[in-house]
Amino acid sequence: MSEHPVVHKLQLKILISDRTRHGSPLWSEHGLSVVAHCTYSEDREPVTILFDTGASASLLRHNLETEGPPTTDIDTVFLSHCHRDHTGGLSALLDDTDATFNLIAHPDITRRAFNLREGMKEVGPEPEVWEKIPRGNLLLLREPVQIHPGVWVSGSIPRETEFERPRPNMYTLSDGRLIPDTDPDDMALWFRLRDEGLVVLTGCGHSGIVNTIRHAAEHMETEHFRAVVGGFHLIEAKPDRISSTTEGLAKFDVQELITGHCTGRTAEDFFARSFGESHNAFCTGDRYQF
Ligand SMILES: [Fe+2]
Ligand SMILES: [Fe+2]
Repeated sequence: MSEHPVVHKLQLKILISDRTRHGSPLWSEHGLSVVAHCTYSEDREPVTILFDTGASASLLRHNLETEGPPTTDIDTVFLSHCHRDHTGGLSALLDDTDATFNLIAHPDITRRAFNLREGMKEVGPEPEVWEKIPRGNLLLLREPVQIHPGVWVSGSIPRETEFERPRPNMYTLSDGRLIPDTDPDDMALWFRLRDEGLVVLTGCGHSGIVNTIRHAAEHMETEHFRAVVGGFHLIEAKPDRISSTTEGLAKFDVQELITGHCTGRTAEDFFARSFGESHNAFCTGDRYQF
């Protein structure tokens, strides 16, 4: 019997992602939103977490109304980082007066972030969105914290590998100056399962997916990952970065890699070749149970 609080059953539903399956009534866009439903043994109440909100309020609203949980069932909204393809749908929930949830993110999520490749393109949400969140509902965390039984926020993810470097062109504003942005607000969720294995859920994995897994292994003192799920942001990566990532992933005991959103086709082809049936690519509407 585990001494740690654990999730008895974890269901993940990909509510929004970049790919659609034929005939799905759900809409897709470049973005990510995942519903995590945790049930427990004993008489503990289940917990529903909305991990990221996709890029647009209308799409989140449509997919929630079509196949999502009622907004009143959402206990926690977790934002993996500021980018608009993960935070753009938030206003749909803030405008929903029946919804009551805690919103959890990193304290640096409210900084202004820009892509400078073609002028100053703001990549975060409308700055006003932060003012619409009731103060008591916003929890900003930078350390690993257990937010529900067996469910952990990773806190800031240390950058340790050589090959997982911040992206060029990304800047933030500091005292009127543009300085390189290192995605300091990037965080993952960790779910500790009954067998002590972890499920790691990541938004874009801007800290590097190998760094993300390493941090979870160290902090949770586990070797075994039941699954690593999410966007790995290798969409613009060169083949050498992808092969270093593949080699780095192979060093961990990961039972299943489930990728989509900004992972990119080239990286997914590498993973399919290296990990065979242990790799799956997700589409909007897909469900996984652990
Ligand atoms: Fe993304
Ligand atoms: Fe991102």
